[in-house]
Amino acid sequence: MSTTVEIRIACVMVGLPARGKTYLAKKIQRYLRWLGIDTEIFNVGCERQKLANRIDHTFFDFHNANGMSQREQAAETTLTAMIDWFDEGKGTVAIYDGTNCTRARRAWIHKELASRGIEVLFIESICQDESIIQSNIQDIISKNPDYHDMDPAVAEADFKQRVKHYEEMYETITEDHLTYLKIIDANQQCIINLVRGYLESRIVYFLMNVKIRPKSIWFSRHGESQFNVEDKIGGDADLSSRGQMYAARLPDLIKEHVGDRPLTVWTSSMKRTIQTASQLPYPKKSWKALDELNTGVCDGMTYAEIEEKYPEDFARRDEDKFNYRYRGGESYRDLVLRVEPIIMELERHDNILLVAHQATLRCIFAYFLDVGHDELPYIKVPLHTLIELIPNAHGCEKHYYRGNIEAVDTFRPKGDRVTKLKDTDTSNAGAIGEIADAKNPILPLSPKLYPKKSTTH
Ligand code: F6P
Repeated sequence: MSTTVEIRIACVMVGLPARGKTYLAKKIQRYLRWLGIDTEIFNVGCERQKLANRIDHTFFDFHNANGMSQREQAAETTLTAMIDWFDEGKGTVAIYDGTNCTRARRAWIHKELASRGIEVLFIESICQDESIIQSNIQDIISKNPDYHDMDPAVAEADFKQRVKHYEEMYETITEDHLTYLKIIDANQQCIINLVRGYLESRIVYFLMNVKIRPKSIWFSRHGESQFNVEDKIGGDADLSSRGQMYAARLPDLIKEHVGDRPLTVWTSSMKRTIQTASQLPYPKKSWKALDELNTGVCDGMTYAEIEEKYPEDFARRDEDKFNYRYRGGESYRDLVLRVEPIIMELERHDNILLVAHQATLRCIFAYFLDVGHDELPYIKVPLHTLIELIPNAHGCEKHYYRGNIEAVDTFRPKGDRVTKLKDTDTSNAGAIGEIADAKNPILPLSPKLYPKKSTTH
C-alpha cells in the first residue's frame, strides 16, 4: 500500500506597512490559480479590523497592551483559519498576509505550521525607494477602512506614525534555519535562503521576475489566414488577401496607438504570425511556445467535420473545453503550461508586441485579466485588432483598437452545433471580454470564481 504525501506550502509575508506585501500576495495567488494550483490569501489586517476598526496609530504602539493583545488575537485567528483550510483539503498554497516583523512572531508561525507538516516560505519585502512607499501609502489610505471618510492629509500623517511604531520593533529576517526570499527595492536585489522544493522554487522564481511599475503590453492575433477563410482549424497556412492587408496596416495602427516607443515583436514559429509581423520595423523573435493549440488528429478539419467524425469528442470538448485534450494534441490546460515561460518574460520585459493565435492569447489574457479556467477558452480575441493590456496594482485594463479590415469571426460559442463562416464580430454571443463599446473600450477587471480542479481525461 502506498500513501501520497500532499504538498502544503504557506507563504508568510514579512515587511513594514506599505511595502507592497498585499500586492505580491495577490500576484502569487493569481499566478498559481492560473496554473491550476488552489491558492488562498489569509489577511491578518482584515481579521484585526473585525476586532478593532477606525483606530488611530496609537493602537499600533508596542506599549499599548490592549492593541497588542487584539493584534495577537487577530494573528492567531487568521493562522487557525489557514490551518483549517489546509486540513479541509481546500488547497495547496496559502498566503499569510501580515507584517510578521519580529523574530518571535516568525518563530511562532513556523512552529505552528511546521509541526503540522506545512512547509513555510517567508517572503520579506524591503523597500527604501521613497517614491514607491509614497505611492503605496496613497493607495492604502484611499482603500483601507481605517481611513474611510478621513481627510487624506490627516490619514497620511496617522499612517506614517503607524509605520514608525512598526519600525521601532522591526527585525529583518536573518534566521538561517528558515526558508525565505528577501526582495529588496522591487527586485533590485534578492536574497534566497534554504529554498528547496519544486513549487517553492517556482514561486521564488516568479517573484524574482515580477516588476511593480505599470506598463503596456501589446497583442495582436495574426491576420486572417487561408485556413480561417475555409473555416479550418490548426495548420500552418499563409495569410489570406485580407490578412495581408492587415499586415500592411499594422505598422500604422501601432504608430497611432503606441507612438514612437521602440518595440520588440514576438511571434510564434508559424507562417501566419511571421507574415503578419513582417512589415513591422522592430526587432523580432519567434517562439515555438507561442504556436497555436495543437489540435492533433483534427488538424486541418472544420468544426462541422469534427462534429461528424468525432461526435463524442466534439461533445466532450463543449462540456469541459479547458481540460479537453485533442487526440494526439493538446488541451487548454496543456497550453497554459506551455506559455508559462512567456508570462515570465512578459513580466520581466517592457515594450513587447506579441503576435500570436486565438487559443495562445486566451491563455495569456487569462493570466493578466484573472479569468478562471471555465471562462478562459471563451475569451474573445478578434482578428485584425490591436489589443493593449495595462496591468497595474489592482488588476488590468484592456483596450481594443480595430484595424478596420474585414475578417471572418472564428469565435465558436459553447454548444454551437453548426459552424458557419460569419462576418467580423457580428455575432459574439457568449464571448468573454468582447468589445462592449468601441468608444469605451476599457473593461474593468472583475474577480472570478475559480472552479475546483477537475481531472484531465
Ligand atoms: O480557428 C482558429 C484557431 O486558431 C484554430 O487554429 C484553433 O484550433 C482554434 O482557433 C482555437 O479556438 P477554439 O479553442 O475556440 O476552438
